Amino acid sequence: MSQPSAELIQLFQPVEEGLDAMRACLTGQLEETSGAVSDMTGHVSRFRGKQLRAALVLLSAKACGTYTAEHPSVAAVVEMIHLATLVHDDILDGAEVRRRVACVNQRWDNQVAVLLGDFLYARAFALSTTLSSRLCSSLLAETTRTLCIGEIEQSSRRYDFEVERETLEGIAAAKTASLYAAACELGARYPGGEVELGETMKGFGRDLGLAFQLVDDCLDLVGDSRVVGKSTGTDVQDGKVTLPVWFVYRDASTAVRAAIRDAYTRPNVEDRAALLKEVVDVRPGVDATLARATALLEGARARLAPLPETPSRASLEEITRFVLRRTW
Ligand code: FPP
Ligand code: MG
Ligand code: MG
Repeated sequence: MSQPSAELIQLFQPVEEGLDAMRACLTGQLEETSGAVSDMTGHVSRFRGKQLRAALVLLSAKACGTYTAEHPSVAAVVEMIHLATLVHDDILDGAEVRRRVACVNQRWDNQVAVLLGDFLYARAFALSTTLSSRLCSSLLAETTRTLCIGEIEQSSRRYDFEVERETLEGIAAAKTASLYAAACELGARYPGGEVELGETMKGFGRDLGLAFQLVDDCLDLVGDSRVVGKSTGTDVQDGKVTLPVWFVYRDASTAVRAAIRDAYTRPNVEDRAALLKEVVDVRPGVDATLARATALLEGARARLAPLPETPSRASLEEITRFVLRRTW
C-alpha cells in the first residue's frame, strides 16, 4: 500500500503507528490466490491515495481519547469502502485516470471494474464482522446506503440547471461527506457509547467532507488533470451541474444561459468543458464555491473547541486547511 504525500505524512504523524497497522491490515485483506484478482488489487494498491478517511478515524479517536487496538481495523474497513466507491465511481463517470494511474475500467473494462468494486466492498464487510462491536458495520451499511442515494440523485439531476442549491449540496453531502462523517464518528464512538462526542465529530466530518467535494468540483472544472492526478472536465461531460457552474448559470444573462446549456449538450462530449469555458468566465462561480468551502471549514474547526489541545486535534485543524489548498 503506497504512502500519502510528505505534507500529509506530517499531518498524520500522531497516528503514524495506527496507519501502518491499517495498511498491513488492508494488504492482508486484499490477498487472493486468484492471479487475476491479485493483479487488480495490486493495481488499486498503486493508487497513491491520501488515506485521509482512514487517518480521520484514527485522529478522531486520539483527539477524543477513545482510541482502541481495533481502531486501525475500523480505519481499514473505511478505506476499503472508499476504494470500492472510487472503482465504481470511475465507471459511472467514464474516468480514465485516478491518482495518476489508469482507472480499473480503463486498464481492464467496466464489467471487471464492477466486480472489483463489489469484491472490495465484500472484503470491507467481512473485516467489519470480525470486530468486537457491530457499530462499524451498522454505521457503514447506513453510510453506503446514503452514498448510493447521493449518486442516484446526482444522476437524476443531470442537465438540470434549475436545481435548487440545497439539492446540490445535499447530493455532495450524501455522496462524499457521509463517509467523512462516518469516519470521524466511528473514531470518536467505536466500540460504542460517547454519543455526544460522536455527534461532534460527525458534524466535523460532514463539514470537512462537503468542503472537500466543493473543492473537488472546482478542480474538475478548472484544474489541470496532470496536477490533479485524475481526469478533469468529467462533470461537464456527464451533464453534472456542480455548484461552481450553478453560481455561474444563476448570474448569467438569458443568452449566456442558452450558451451554457448548449455547451453542456454538445454531441461530442470531449468538447463540452472547453466550450463552456469559452462561452462564460467560470472563475466567479469557482470563487463563490471556494468561499462556501472556506465557511464550512471554519465551522468544522469551531466544532473541535470542546476537545482538549492535543497533537491529534491540531492535525484535524490543519487538515481543514489542507482541504482548501490541495490540488489533488
Ligand atoms: C465522488 O465523486 C463520490 C464518490 C467517490 C462516491 C461514489 C459512490 C458510489 C459510486 C456508490 C458505490 C457503492 C458501493 C456499494 C461501493 P466524484 O466523481 O465527484 O469524485 P472524483 O472527482 O474523485 O471522481
Ligand atoms: Mg468521479
Ligand atoms: Mg462521480
